[in-house]
Amino acid sequence: MTDLVTFLQQTLKAAEEASTPEALDEIRVSALGKKGFLTEQMKTLGQLDGDARKIQGQELNKAKGEIAKALDVKKQALDAAALDEKLKSESIDVTLQPSPALKGSVHPISQTIEEIVEIFGKMGFNVAEGPDIEDDFHNFEALNFPKGHPAREMQDTFYLNKTHDDQPMVLRTHTSPVQIRTMLTEEAPIRIIVPGRTYRCDHDATHSPMFHQVEGLVIEKGIHMGHLKATLKSFCEQFFGVTDLPMRFRPSFFPFTEPSVEVDIGCKKTDKGLEIGAGEDWLEILGAGMVHPNVLKNCGLNPQEHQGFAFGVGLERISMLKYGMPDLRPFFESDMRWLEYYGFSHQDMPSKERSVS
Ligand code: DAH
Repeated sequence: MTDLVTFLQQTLKAAEEASTPEALDEIRVSALGKKGFLTEQMKTLGQLDGDARKIQGQELNKAKGEIAKALDVKKQALDAAALDEKLKSESIDVTLQPSPALKGSVHPISQTIEEIVEIFGKMGFNVAEGPDIEDDFHNFEALNFPKGHPAREMQDTFYLNKTHDDQPMVLRTHTSPVQIRTMLTEEAPIRIIVPGRTYRCDHDATHSPMFHQVEGLVIEKGIHMGHLKATLKSFCEQFFGVTDLPMRFRPSFFPFTEPSVEVDIGCKKTDKGLEIGAGEDWLEILGAGMVHPNVLKNCGLNPQEHQGFAFGVGLERISMLKYGMPDLRPFFESDMRWLEYYGFSHQDMPSKERSVS
C-alpha cells in the first residue's frame, strides 16, 4: 500500500515535470505498460483475500486512472506548447523586403512583328494568317512554280510523309501561300500583311530551319510599281527610323512576280558596326514585285482588270540589322541572358537605340 502511494506520488510528479512527449511515453510504459508497475501489482491481487483484494483492486484502479489522466493533461499541454513554438517560428515578417519580381520581356521577333503590323496598319493593311503545314498547290503550284521547275530548288523544302487530295504536304517554305488563300477567299481590294513561321532545310549563322517572314499583298485596280516603291520606302524609313533613306530596287526573279525586284537600303559599315541610312554600301533587305498574271488567274482574277504588288521580308534579318544582332541562332535558343540583353520590356518604344554591328 505504501509502495503504491509512493509510486503514485512519484509518477504524478514525473508526469508533471516531463518536458517531451517521449518522456511522457516512458512514464506511461513504466506505470501502465504490460510490464509496468501497476500491471504487475494487478497480477498479485489473486494472492489476497476477499476484502483486501477488493480494496487493493480499487486502489490500483484509482491510481491507474489518476496517472492516465495526468499523462493526458500533460500531453495536451506539451502539444499546445509545441504548436505555439511552431506558430512563432513560422510567423510572417511583413516588414521583410519582397524578393524582386522576375520581369518577362518581349522577344525581339514579337517586337519586330508588332512594329511592322503597326506601320502597315497605318497604311490600311490588315493582318492575315495561314497554316504552317501547306499543300503543294498553295506553297508552289498556284504561285506559278510549275512541277519540276528549277525555281522549286531555290527553297530547300521539308516534305511531310503524307498527302492531301493526292498533293504532297510541306512545311511552308515562305508566307507567300497566304497570298493565294486570301485572293481565293476575299474580294479585291486587298491589303494584307502576313507575319508567320516558315521552314527550310538550312542551318548556319544566318539561317535557321525555322524562321519568320512577313508577306505583303495589295490587289487593287490600277496598282503599279510606283505604289510598291512608295509603300516600301515609307515602311523602311519608319522601321529603321531614318528619313530620306537611300533605297535601290534591283531587277530579280521570283516565279510569282513580274517584274521582280530585290530591295536594298543604303548603309555604311564602320569599325563600330553598321550605320543604316548613311553611306556608300548597300544591304539587301527584301524581295518584291508586281503579282504575276498567272498567279492572278490561278486565283480567279482577271489580270486585265486587277493588278497588285507583293513583297516578302525576312524577320530575323531585319531585326538583326535594326538591333545589331550578329548571329541568328540565339533567336531560338531561349538563353535568358540573350533575352535580357536584346528583349524588350512592354513599355519600350520600338526605336530603342542600340549599336549595330
Ligand atoms: N517568298 C519569297 C521567299 O521566300 C519572298 C518574296 C519575294 C515574297 C518577292 C514576295 C515577293 O511576295 O514578291 O524568298
